[in-house]
Amino acid sequence: MAAADQIKRLIKFYGEGDEDRFFASAMQIAASEARQGHANFAQELKELIEKARKERSSAQFEKGKVIPFSKSKNEIRELVDVVNSNLHLTDMTLTESLRDSLSKFIHEQKHWEVLNQYNLKPKRKLLFYGPPGCGKTMTAHALAGELGIPAFIVRLDGIISKYMGESIAKLRLIFDTMVDHRGVYLFDEFDSIGAHRNQGQDVGEIKRVLNSFLVNIENNRSNSVIIAATNLPKSLDNALFRRFDEIIQFPLPNGKEIIQTIENRLSGFTLDKNLDNTSILEEAEGLNFSELVNASEEAIKEMILSQRNSIKYLDLITALRKRKESHANRLQ
Ligand SMILES: Nc1ncnc2c1ncn2[C@@H]1O[C@H](COP(=O)(O)OP(=O)(O)OP(=O)(O)O)[C@@H](O)[C@H]1O
Ligand SMILES: [Mg+2]
Repeated sequence: MAAADQIKRLIKFYGEGDEDRFFASAMQIAASEARQGHANFAQELKELIEKARKERSSAQFEKGKVIPFSKSKNEIRELVDVVNSNLHLTDMTLTESLRDSLSKFIHEQKHWEVLNQYNLKPKRKLLFYGPPGCGKTMTAHALAGELGIPAFIVRLDGIISKYMGESIAKLRLIFDTMVDHRGVYLFDEFDSIGAHRNQGQDVGEIKRVLNSFLVNIENNRSNSVIIAATNLPKSLDNALFRRFDEIIQFPLPNGKEIIQTIENRLSGFTLDKNLDNTSILEEAEGLNFSELVNASEEAIKEMILSQRNSIKYLDLITALRKRKESHANRLQ
């Protein structure tokens, strides 16, 4: 029978969520049982362990399921936020061409096994660029929601370390994690490492991180989706672009999208007057999606707090105007 300290170790590793060491200890028990001549029991134990391991690794492909990081990978918790997303593309206002590219991407990802049979791979490395508040981060969450896998939001500031070599090891850890934790890995605010002209004290370390990112993204053979998002594609190092399967632009909303975004946010509420597209567009042109959503929410809040049954059209116009004026002030 297993010795007391073997059982204690098993319970300890289980409690710590350290899956790798839990299974390794269980295998040690099987080996010592075999040495003591209990061949049948040892064999039975080995089979149980293998079955449990297989089930754990395939479970991560189930919709919405997140496998906890093992203790040996605990470090990763400081570098990424794990999000189980329920967002879908239909929750977003998208141009036809953007919706087409994203739908195609999802279709390829969902049918990777079919492609594999023909020795083809689905696209999985994307670069998103465009002004703030235009849906880059939201799309990464929506892709995770559509594919039923978690979104891992990489904290780039957590990666850049002042100790030489440490940042590279941390980045490596993230890319290694992609292999057994399938997900959408978002490197948000990517310009913080991807910009080719950085002027700060830690230029050297940032350059090393960028080079290591290039090597890692090129060599990565996982099933995970990798997304880098940035506002500034012009400042990005040229070597970066060819590492991605597709470069996707997220522009400011055009007229149709402005109206649709406001209508979507206000749906379920009544306005005291029908939306007048011309005057809305006059006030809202140049605003990003985020500002449109926030302005709509401001008008909703006014309604709730003043205990009215309908949203004042004027509140909406005022909220939009305020945002546009703050744009104009920023440009001065
Ligand atoms: N296409 C869209 N449809 C509907 N809402 C959107 C869309 N894009 C953005 N939004 C709204 O704006 C908010 C901010 O968007 P998001 O964080 O994706 O912008 P971003 O492009 O990542 O900006 P940044 O460059 O500042 O990181 C979202 O939470 C959502 O409310
Ligand atoms: Mg973002």
